[in-house]
Amino acid sequence: MARVLLGVTGGIAAYKSCELCRLFVKDGHDVVPLVTPGAERFVTAETFRALARRPPGEDVYLHLTRADLLVVAPCTANTLAKLAHGLADNVLTEAALAHRGPVLVAPAMNPRMWAHPATRANVEALLARGVALVGPDEGETAEGELGVGRMAEPEEIFRAALELLHGRSVLRGKTVLISAGGTREPLDAVRYVGNRSSGRMGVALAVEARRRGADVTLLAANLAVRPPEGVEVVETPTAADLEREALARAAEADIVVMAAAVADYRPAEAHVTKRPKDSAAWTLELEPTTDVLAALGSNRRDGQLLVGFAAETGEDGIERARAKLERKGADLFVFNDVSRPDIGFDTPDNAVTLVTASGDRPLAKAPKDEIAIAILDEVERLVG
Ligand code: CTP
Repeated sequence: MARVLLGVTGGIAAYKSCELCRLFVKDGHDVVPLVTPGAERFVTAETFRALARRPPGEDVYLHLTRADLLVVAPCTANTLAKLAHGLADNVLTEAALAHRGPVLVAPAMNPRMWAHPATRANVEALLARGVALVGPDEGETAEGELGVGRMAEPEEIFRAALELLHGRSVLRGKTVLISAGGTREPLDAVRYVGNRSSGRMGVALAVEARRRGADVTLLAANLAVRPPEGVEVVETPTAADLEREALARAAEADIVVMAAAVADYRPAEAHVTKRPKDSAAWTLELEPTTDVLAALGSNRRDGQLLVGFAAETGEDGIERARAKLERKGADLFVFNDVSRPDIGFDTPDNAVTLVTASGDRPLAKAPKDEIAIAILDEVERLVG
């Protein structure tokens, strides 16, 4: 999921940007509409706020400097000139100066304005600065003139935007299967044996893989956080569910990331109804579950990459993580010291060491979405 600043300026094509906004939202992106006063003559800022599902009265300035992409569609001749010259007289042109990522401009204007030497020079200046252009297309303008000046279609702008966002990632178009959360093994109709995993790390990985253009399926085991939009979510509450779904889907997957805390043991017997309390002790027999990662490791197809997580405590945790890497046949293990109370289970931060056949790489403590970026950078290196 990317954060997209969607600049809308005052052209008749502004209404088409509603569809563009919808395409970004449907694909799971966080859209911040920046509607200029000129655009409000055609479409209200409220329409875009509703389409982008943004809270009323939100201060958009907070998001301006942390966006992945700025799209200006439609971009009038006037705004094009302002962008070329660095003017900052409204929220959109201010954002354009503050923004440090890729910029996509979809011009829309009268064909004579588009052909004018002043506009040509402005376009040249923007292109020289690395700004990407989509359109304008040839066709009939709103005033009935024929020529080049009509805004590109929303789908085309959307595709160009995705190219800018994902063009450089080797994960683009790859199928990625990620498990997240912690399984719960039923004791009876209401009780279970479970663990403290919230699913935050796996969800952060799903978001980042999606942002890089991968097709992501999330095997969700009792998530305490909302699964992201734009990824397929399959509920896998127990180890048996997770085993079944992971093995069924692994053949299609280029990359499998087992971030879920899968129960190693389950109650040998689960009561169908709620077991009534009595004064006697309740002795449980636990039976081992299938090690899903090890099963995937011994059946993996050519070129498939496997990532495991090792939640360990104590000094020799890293050695145990290295041993798991070999034993389970994985390419990368993410070692997590869960004895530290400030990181790991059910916390927003994490500090991990990436363990591969070629060595260990410790990462400093950081929010889980930043750790996800580092893990997927390593995955990209391994995929080559
Ligand atoms: N895992 C799995 N299936 C299981 C248990 C674990 O696929 N039944 C995966 C986890 O998703 C994780 C990795 O294996 O990616 C390591 O899990 P962990 O429980 O730390 O390892 P174990 O092999 O169970 O080792 P230990 O003896 O330390 O519990």
